[in-house]
Amino acid sequence: MYNIQTIAPDIVYVGASDRRLAKFENLFPIPRGVSYNSYVILDEKTALMDTADASVGAQFLENVAAALNGRGLDYLVIDHMEPDHAAMIEAVLLRWPGVQIVCNAKTVPMLKAFFPGDTAAIDAALLVKEGDTLELGKHSLSFVMAPMVHWPEVMMAFDTATGTLFSADAFGTFGALGGSLFADEVNFERDWLDDARRYYANIVGKYGVQVQNVLKKAAGLAIQTIAPLHGPIWRKDLAWFLGKYDLWSRWEAEDKGVVVLYGSLYGNTSSAAEAVAAQLGARGVANVKVMDLSVADVSEAVSECWRASTIVLASPTYNGGLYPPVAALLDDLQSLGLQNRTFALIENGSWAPMSARLMTAKLEGLKNCTVLETKLTVRGALNAAQDADVAALADAVAQTVKA
Ligand code: FEO
Repeated sequence: MYNIQTIAPDIVYVGASDRRLAKFENLFPIPRGVSYNSYVILDEKTALMDTADASVGAQFLENVAAALNGRGLDYLVIDHMEPDHAAMIEAVLLRWPGVQIVCNAKTVPMLKAFFPGDTAAIDAALLVKEGDTLELGKHSLSFVMAPMVHWPEVMMAFDTATGTLFSADAFGTFGALGGSLFADEVNFERDWLDDARRYYANIVGKYGVQVQNVLKKAAGLAIQTIAPLHGPIWRKDLAWFLGKYDLWSRWEAEDKGVVVLYGSLYGNTSSAAEAVAAQLGARGVANVKVMDLSVADVSEAVSECWRASTIVLASPTYNGGLYPPVAALLDDLQSLGLQNRTFALIENGSWAPMSARLMTAKLEGLKNCTVLETKLTVRGALNAAQDADVAALADAVAQTVKA
């Protein structure tokens, strides 16, 4: 059964949600599923804004046909070529053979790579660049190039008639949509913000400079609605969510707060990490989050590193190196380019503790990050004789969030 909703005058949501996929990009756990958003604009000309993942392909095609209600499809606007949005391009070309692709010059080689059988349609594409417009009738799409948010060919389309910004991956989030398509119809801060941050940090986090460039362009548009390719659509409180994106893309902490992330083989390193967390609580530091890196997915830990201003890392020494889940997190933080954080370290080593030195070496690659000189060294198990060491580390960490 088709499943469509009008989200603004003449603009129909034709996307669909997948609640069966375990991991987005076969990498990021999505227990709440994910939506692949797509939109049809019905005007003198009709336009389809991106397609969908193959997993929801049948539903998507049924939705597009229902939205068109017997009309033809004039344009397929391709804002992003990643297969979670582009997988159904060939199916759309086959079903609506008169359709003209609208994309930019960087999209063309990707189209030919992914769809080598569709050269004629690709060669007939209408190529647009920054500031070009596509007239549909009452609606006029103005194109905003957004390279590396999150691939080089990404662009956004702004409908001047309704003030709708089709924002591609930007402002998207993990999570399947229920019947409520708008962020103001759900409790976004309570139920979606963590997944939005996790999506941003892990998918787009590396490209903060490029996101900042797009935010500057967006500031010049009279945006009424943000229609992303994943997750809820924004028509209220846009400034609140734009503010989150501004912080995230400048690698500024969302909260002046602490997250404690530990690896632990037998519970001794976790015991030390929990002791420090308890002492932070005793010093009035609110909302200290503690995560076991062997249990939490690394994408959740990355998201917490985007949220908190101070990160306490605890790692056993393992085969003379770092405990693998801790090393994996640090590698991710390096490749995503986290900046502007304070780190505090807890190391454990039954005979030769060296994880603090190894963590410090990895953290040196992060811009504008500080590693506190005060550290806690555990040799096997923390003991009462080290109460002063725990207190000293807690004092130093508490100072960073109270300063
Ligand atoms: Fe949702 Fe970069 O694709």
